Amino acid sequence: MTSRLEPFSFARRIPSTPSIGSSTVTKPDHIHLSFGFAAPHLFPIEQLSASAADAVTQHGRKALQYSGAPGPGKILQWIQERSLVHGIRADLNQILVTYGSTQGIDLATRILVDPGDHVWVESPSFFSALQSFRAAEAVVTSFPIDEDGVRVDLIENALVEAKRDGRPIPKLLYTMPTYHNPGGVTLSIERRKRLVQLAEAYNFFILEDDAYSELNFTGNQYPPLYTLFPERVIYLNTFSKIIGPGLRLGWVIADQQVIQKVRLLNLGGSIGVFTQEILAQLIDNFAFQNHVDALSAHYRKQRDVMAEALREHFGEHVSFHLPEGGFYIWLRFADHVNTSEWVQDAASRGVSFVEGKSFFADPEGYHYARLCFSYVSEEQIVRGVKLLADSYFSYIGREAVRSS
Ligand SMILES: Cc1ncc(COP(=O)(O)O)c(C=O)c1O
Repeated sequence: MTSRLEPFSFARRIPSTPSIGSSTVTKPDHIHLSFGFAAPHLFPIEQLSASAADAVTQHGRKALQYSGAPGPGKILQWIQERSLVHGIRADLNQILVTYGSTQGIDLATRILVDPGDHVWVESPSFFSALQSFRAAEAVVTSFPIDEDGVRVDLIENALVEAKRDGRPIPKLLYTMPTYHNPGGVTLSIERRKRLVQLAEAYNFFILEDDAYSELNFTGNQYPPLYTLFPERVIYLNTFSKIIGPGLRLGWVIADQQVIQKVRLLNLGGSIGVFTQEILAQLIDNFAFQNHVDALSAHYRKQRDVMAEALREHFGEHVSFHLPEGGFYIWLRFADHVNTSEWVQDAASRGVSFVEGKSFFADPEGYHYARLCFSYVSEEQIVRGVKLLADSYFSYIGREAVRSS
């Protein structure tokens, strides 16, 4: 039937591309090295089931009601205490629970960025953050990362030049200093110190996305940027990687003035009050440190299996940084390799990965690919990397024929 309606013009501020990261392949034996998902067998299912029952039977009348701004106090207190372990001191009114840290990114963007304002990011960066900045109609500029995290020297040069030439300074700089997604790298302590000095000298906000910091494979500790400059760092974290992403609970820690602004955007009152209550019941009797230690040990093993398989099947054809934590290995191929050209072939062989270009604000990054080692089993990692190598070598074989 042909429509009688004229095309409708939806608002400009809708991301132009759908969120990436979940492939549409549903075949049961498909190996999803693309999914940045937590290991489902490590969800604390039994404890959550008891907690959910308590949340309904003992606290249901309150937990199912609208809740004012702060939500259940237990979660805020837990966040406050756990943050101290990482050196973060915050009053309860500096903490806000969000619908995952992705919402934290979006809320921070909305309170700071008007159309045309400048946002600086790392290249590569987290795709949902890039979408949020684009939807805000920000002018996005990116700075490369190396083994020690984002190139703060290049950020400094750009700031010096912008000031000298009367060009705009960013309102916001978005960074994942610890166990970067997708880069897997961690910002060195020297660069952390320099970056916050720059934020102070040039008066911009840093949005620190710390989603993976609990998944620490080495024991090395890095101070969150927030601890170095609480006035101008908005700190984000999440329960997604440490309990389960389906909870959709994360948090923001920031200066009170920032939190007050963010609250103004939270039109429906506190986020996920009932889910917060379930979580509050869980963490009451939960050996959290043991839990994250077990997660870290598991993911570290998975990382090692993947690194080994990559060395075995790709040899010199690929390079990568061995991450100290988190979920990802970021593959770099020779400059002429375009991972977008064989991502479909790999999928048809039964393995998916995320092509490099998805993580860049500008059209670049074609010779990179992100693999995730957290969601699949060791056996799937080995098999998946082998299938990936089959696809890659078939691609470069075709390339060689094409260019001969
Ligand atoms: C850097 C980063 N930030 C945020 C998120 C999303 O977290 P949440 O589930 O809390 O929205 C992810 C998930 O992949 C991530 O990699």
